Amino acid sequence: MKKLWGARFRSELHETAKKFTYSLGVDHELLSAEIKVSMAHALMLGKVGIISERDSRTLVKGLWKVLAALKRKNLCHMSSEYEDIHTLIQAELEKKVGKLARRLHTGRSRNDLVATSMRVYLKEKITVVLEAINQFQLVLVAQAERNRNVLIPGYTHLQRAQVVSLGHYFLAYVEMLERDKSRFVDARKRMNECPLGAGALAGSTLPIDRAYVAKLLGFQRPTSNSLDSVSDRDFVIEVLSSVAILFTHLSRFSEDLVLWASQEFGFISLDDQFATGSSLMPHKKNPDVLELVRGKTGQAYGNLISVLVTMKGLPLAYNRDMQEDKMSLFASLRILLDTLAILNGTVRTIRVDQAACERASKDSFLFATDLLEYLVKKKVPFLEAHQIVGALVRYALDSHTTLGGLSFETYQKYSRAFKKDVFDLFDPKVSISSKVSSGSPKPELVAKQIRLWKERLKAEAKRLMQAHHRGQ
Ligand code: ARG
Repeated sequence: MKKLWGARFRSELHETAKKFTYSLGVDHELLSAEIKVSMAHALMLGKVGIISERDSRTLVKGLWKVLAALKRKNLCHMSSEYEDIHTLIQAELEKKVGKLARRLHTGRSRNDLVATSMRVYLKEKITVVLEAINQFQLVLVAQAERNRNVLIPGYTHLQRAQVVSLGHYFLAYVEMLERDKSRFVDARKRMNECPLGAGALAGSTLPIDRAYVAKLLGFQRPTSNSLDSVSDRDFVIEVLSSVAILFTHLSRFSEDLVLWASQEFGFISLDDQFATGSSLMPHKKNPDVLELVRGKTGQAYGNLISVLVTMKGLPLAYNRDMQEDKMSLFASLRILLDTLAILNGTVRTIRVDQAACERASKDSFLFATDLLEYLVKKKVPFLEAHQIVGALVRYALDSHTTLGGLSFETYQKYSRAFKKDVFDLFDPKVSISSKVSSGSPKPELVAKQIRLWKERLKAEAKRLMQAHHRGQ
């Protein structure tokens, strides 16, 4: 039996239509999840007496054998023979347990089956994604710690703005990635309902026990509406959008590193293992890995848009269009895991040019805001202080010097509030240590954040590893 349908048809599916509709080449990724779902279903059929307990056990044993057999094969090669992963498992099961296999599909349809397998697959995969993100966060924290005292200009509009530390910079991405993790966790919470038993769209007249299947598969409960159950792909879209947002962060991070690795900035250099050369220009060392992270972001967005567009015009309930969700979903997850792995190595091996950072962080215009706040502390109204410092900047630029190069007399001319200690401000270390607001790059605050993140991420890594082993 190579098909799960066909009796009402007079002829075979045209070869081109087969090619066009068959999906094993993509949905083979669901193998383990689908076997699990089928085992739970078989156990339920036995429990409620739709089949005998003995047959139920035989089916489960057979499914184990199918899993073992299929795991060793390249399922893509079978994709012209079998319509989809559901059909392949059914056919293999018949090879293992004979005609009894034909009872497995009782009380379910491929519509609720595929929706369930996708959720089971994703619930596990999200743990793998969380582990990879967490791992990368640890790399970022390690860089933050190593470079916590390296000061650089912080930028807005890519113009030098105020001094920050590399420690503070790397921790900014740790924060972003933590939000990314929480988006995956949220998505997983909402997909924690089991669609199996919704049938093709309208449930079943057989006495199936949906709650039992849900429990066996580790779902919180069965879904509540059969139409919604088979037509919903929100959970795919949520995961894809979580991937897309995460890629926004990875892309921006890569962009900064590309800039920093340029001669114009020169803050970092990449390890030879994670940089490439030019076929023509012998001197070049290019940040291709980082550029590709930026580039792959396009695919991550595209995959999200693809599923959104696929879903937007569909009448309830199931429509075959929905089969197209898998290619996008699997592709996004694959590029995400590849990207996190490569970034891990790239960032771990970055070398920081402390001298270049120091040079840049000494640009005394970076202290204009500190000057302004100096005046505010001397009770000059903020807007007045802003004007005074603005005028000083103008004067310094016109005189081809910097704020630190102006004389004390000049400062006094602009405001009597300036005292000799104003020159103490032109030091990046002073600038950063004078910060008092929470969340600022003040070194003590950054050091504390580094400590907290290290503890938190290590504990999380342990927890995720255990969840991974439990298959959750
Ligand atoms: N392969 C389909 C999918 O991924 C599931 C099969 C449902 N097919 C059908 N003709 N009702 O969505």
